[in-house]
Amino acid sequence: VSRLDSPIGVFDSGVGGLTVLKALAAQLPRERFVYLGDTARLPYGTKSPETVVRYALQAAEALAGYGVKCLVIACNTASAVGLAAVSERIHDVPVIGVIEPGAEAACLASRSGHIAVIATEGTVRGGAYQDAIVRRRTDARVSALPAPLFVALAEEGLCRGSIADSVARHYLDPIFNPLFNSRAGKSHPDTLVLGCTHFPMLSDTIRAAVGPEVRIVDSAETTARYVRRTLESAGLAARSGEGGLRLLATDAADRFARIGARFLERPIGSHEVELVDL
Ligand code: DGL
Repeated sequence: VSRLDSPIGVFDSGVGGLTVLKALAAQLPRERFVYLGDTARLPYGTKSPETVVRYALQAAEALAGYGVKCLVIACNTASAVGLAAVSERIHDVPVIGVIEPGAEAACLASRSGHIAVIATEGTVRGGAYQDAIVRRRTDARVSALPAPLFVALAEEGLCRGSIADSVARHYLDPIFNPLFNSRAGKSHPDTLVLGCTHFPMLSDTIRAAVGPEVRIVDSAETTARYVRRTLESAGLAARSGEGGLRLLATDAADRFARIGARFLERPIGSHEVELVDL
């Protein structure tokens, strides 16, 4: 098998990274993917950086065993704290996280330089988005805040409706709603980064809460474009083939299939999900 035909490895703490996989498959329809969801140990977003780094290294090594030509850390939390460690360990293929592409897109999208990031606790605490944005735009002002309930809402399938609306308002009104915060009127961020795998599922609700003017950066989309550019410039993009997907999980194949189907927007049979141990 030539390198071009090798699969792309993608991992996440669970099903959330399927939003990234969906965007990748749309950008790269000829590629085969091996997706690993560490469902036995999710969530990563509330765990210490040391633990997330350890888990990320194990997931990356497991995928390296499938002969991948590129590794995508689809999880924002694992990218935020673990990208350097994973790149050091898996040094023979490109390792791409979701933070840098998201930060780059936010810097390009923002006029004022005032950028908000919503993510898990672990991603916000690690400061990776904040650093990646300020490194690219020294004039930037970043408001980063954890929005952990969005993860649960997306997994419950409560992406629209009154519960999702009130959670969105709870997190976003203090930053974006001028009625809520008189200072927000003039100086609220003009760009919002969805810095968690689950948040694109709630993009309509989030859009309604922030209003039509704010630019929303979906890190899944921006990462997929970045991966395509990286493969093309490294001469690693598949030239033929119909694509393909192998799904691996560390626990609960049934739940992965049921919830993952919503994220991937196609049915997943639980027999399609192979259980692996890390
Ligand atoms: N995949 C995680 C992220 O993007 C969200 C779920 C979790 O906390 O594990 O940060």
